[in-house]
Amino acid sequence: MKFFVDSANIEEITKLKNLGLADGVTTNPSLILKAGRNFQSIAKDICELIEGPVSLEVSSSSIDQMRAEAEKLRVISENVVVKLPMTWNGLKVCRDLANSGIKVNMTLCFTANQAILAAKAGAEFVSPFVGRLDDTKIDGVGLIKEIRTIYDNYSFRTKILAASIRSLEHIKNCAIAGAEAVTAPPAILRELVSHPLTDKGLEIFLSDWEKSNQKI
Ligand code: E4P
Repeated sequence: MKFFVDSANIEEITKLKNLGLADGVTTNPSLILKAGRNFQSIAKDICELIEGPVSLEVSSSSIDQMRAEAEKLRVISENVVVKLPMTWNGLKVCRDLANSGIKVNMTLCFTANQAILAAKAGAEFVSPFVGRLDDTKIDGVGLIKEIRTIYDNYSFRTKILAASIRSLEHIKNCAIAGAEAVTAPPAILRELVSHPLTDKGLEIFLSDWEKSNQKI
C-alpha cells in the first residue's frame, strides 16, 4: 500500500519523506492557496523532492484550456500526474492524455459509476473522496469497496487512490478495502505510529531496564 501526502507544504512533505511516508504527493487548488507560494515554484520543489507520482490539478473546465494546462503541467517533471475533474470534458482530456502516455488522476470521484468512467478513459488513478462522502452520510469506505470489486471484476488497471482522508480509521479501512494508495494530510500520516499502550509499554520497558543494571 502506498502513502501519498495530500499537501503543497514542502516542509511537511520533506518530514514525511524522511519517515518513508511520501510515496507520492497530491495537490489541489485549495492546498496551493493554503501554501501561499508561487504555483510553478511549489510544483518544481515537490517534483524534485519526491520520486513517485505528483498530482498537479488543472484549474479550468473547457477541453481546450484543460489540454493547454495539462501540457504545461506535464513538462514540469516526468513524475507529474495531471489531475482532472470528473466531468465529460475531464474524461475526454483524460482519454487523449492517456493515449499519448501521460498519466492522469481523475479527481472528485463520488460514485462507482464515475470510477468506471475513469477506468474506461485510461486514468492511472481515480480519487474517491472518502471524507467528503461521509460528510453527506454516505459511507466513503463503502465506495472504495464497490470500486475495488468492479475493477477486479473487469481487470481495470486504474489504481484506487483514496482521498479526502480524515482519520486513522479511514486509512485502515481503505487498506482493508484494497485501495492501492491513500492520500492523507500530514497530521494524519504522522499519527500512524501512535498508540497509548505503545507509549506506556515503552516507558515500563525503559524503566525496568534501568533497574536491571544491564548493558547491551
Ligand atoms: C485529493 O486529491 C484531494 O486533494 C483531497 O484529498 C481532498 O481532501 P479534502 O476533502 O480534505 O479537501
